[in-house]
Amino acid sequence: MELLMLLAAAAIFLGYCQTDEKVSFYGSSYIHFPVQEAKGSTNISFRFRTHLSDAILLLAAGKTDYCLIKLEAARLKFVESTPTDLSVRLMLMYSPLSTFPTSTIGTRDFIASPVLNQRRVHINLGAGESEIASPRGLTLNDLSWHEIHLVRQEANMTLQIDGIHITRTLLPGKFFVLNIVYGVFIGGQGEFHELFLGHTEYMRGCMADIIYNGANVIEYTKSRQGKSEASAVTWGCSKVFDATKKTEISFLEEGAFLSISRPISRTGSRWEFELKTTSEMGLLLYNAGQASHADYLGIELHEGKVRLLMNKGNGATELIHSLTVKDGKWHKVIIDFSPTIIGISIDEKPAERLNLPSGGNRYLDLAETLYIGGTELNKRARAIARGIKSGDRSYKGCLRNMLLDSSEIGLPDVKISQGIVAGCIWSYPCFEKRPCIPSATCSQVGVNSFECTCDQPHCVTSNYAESTTVS
Ligand SMILES: *[C@@H]1O[C@H](CO)[C@@H](O)[C@H](O)[C@H]1NC(C)=O
Ligand SMILES: *[C@@H]1O[C@H](CO)[C@@H](O)[C@H](O)[C@H]1NC(C)=O
Repeated sequence: MELLMLLAAAAIFLGYCQTDEKVSFYGSSYIHFPVQEAKGSTNISFRFRTHLSDAILLLAAGKTDYCLIKLEAARLKFVESTPTDLSVRLMLMYSPLSTFPTSTIGTRDFIASPVLNQRRVHINLGAGESEIASPRGLTLNDLSWHEIHLVRQEANMTLQIDGIHITRTLLPGKFFVLNIVYGVFIGGQGEFHELFLGHTEYMRGCMADIIYNGANVIEYTKSRQGKSEASAVTWGCSKVFDATKKTEISFLEEGAFLSISRPISRTGSRWEFELKTTSEMGLLLYNAGQASHADYLGIELHEGKVRLLMNKGNGATELIHSLTVKDGKWHKVIIDFSPTIIGISIDEKPAERLNLPSGGNRYLDLAETLYIGGTELNKRARAIARGIKSGDRSYKGCLRNMLLDSSEIGLPDVKISQGIVAGCIWSYPCFEKRPCIPSATCSQVGVNSFECTCDQPHCVTSNYAESTTVS
């Protein structure tokens, strides 16, 4: 009995004192923490680090009320809205502000037209949305940890950053009860798509020790209590965010990809990279093109060879390089594509090229988003339908030294990533060390192990068995 009490006390103690609960967000991740409450006070604290200047950190959402904490131009903004009537709601959705001199419109001052056809203008000074921002000049997107404490009691609001920058505000208006029904979203707005929020960028970086009105969100979500949901996050703060352009990248699993935003010249581009893999298949690069054009570009591994498929408006042209690259060694690949010619060069050998059929468009009209190592779920079926055989298969292996038109690209440029880690952690003992006896079959297990299969008691060579602890 005493032991139980001691354990319970220890658990409570740990619950209160544990201050190292971290979570990583990758540009499309979020946590949904289901709470329903109507409160006159708000108490939120967390730490974060990111290189983004604009990102959503936390959203508590109700039918009309919401509380949003975001980064905007590297400053922290807290917006709380407790609209009290339909006119405010209307204003939030269809703001007619542009018809008024902007000098009369502050961040908390609303102009709405509840009786539109009588052209009556209702000016609502601060009864709905309140905003508080971090001090000007304090840059929060420097990848350092920043600590935020936000406390509101009725109209009194205090924002404290890193324990030293304190901003106090008295909110205008009379209605301070925040009515939350859809819960709290961290790092992104998830499936919550109300018009009044407008467009918000997802978080890419880490957050820690998130306490929302007394609830430890990370602990709650990690232990899968209630209906909390974590989408595409990982626990702990990933090393991916500390990487440089030189850092090698490992694509680990099905669904892995990264996306980078780079305009592609209409006259063509050159993409260079090095790869190390033993995979037969997998998507290396995909540009889905623009909605208004048929153009697209896919580069993939097919039967262990590099295959390029490009459409510039008059059908797809395919080029498969003759070399096999799936031998577990690094290979340097250079891809050239333009409206007239495509080419692949491997390991500094002369490029294999193909002229594109004449006709089609004069220029290439590709999209600004490059998907590397795989693509987003909602793009996969289309990619396959277009003839990209690995449209739904992620590349598994390592990439490094990527250059787009001679300028380095790497992990710091990534907008969204999934299933990748910083550094090349893939190694291929079957190819590198030949650990199995000649009659055995060696197969890769995980990212760096192997298994020898044969019809004898020992399938691993005696040399190999002696040099390691593996038996
Ligand atoms: C806000 O919450 C923190 C714990 O997360 C607590 O220490 C603090 O006293 C609370 N502040 C108010 C004013 O309730
Ligand atoms: C808000 O602040 C004022 C002045 O600082 C104080 O008199 C008042 O009691 C506070 N209200 C609440 C609800 O904390």
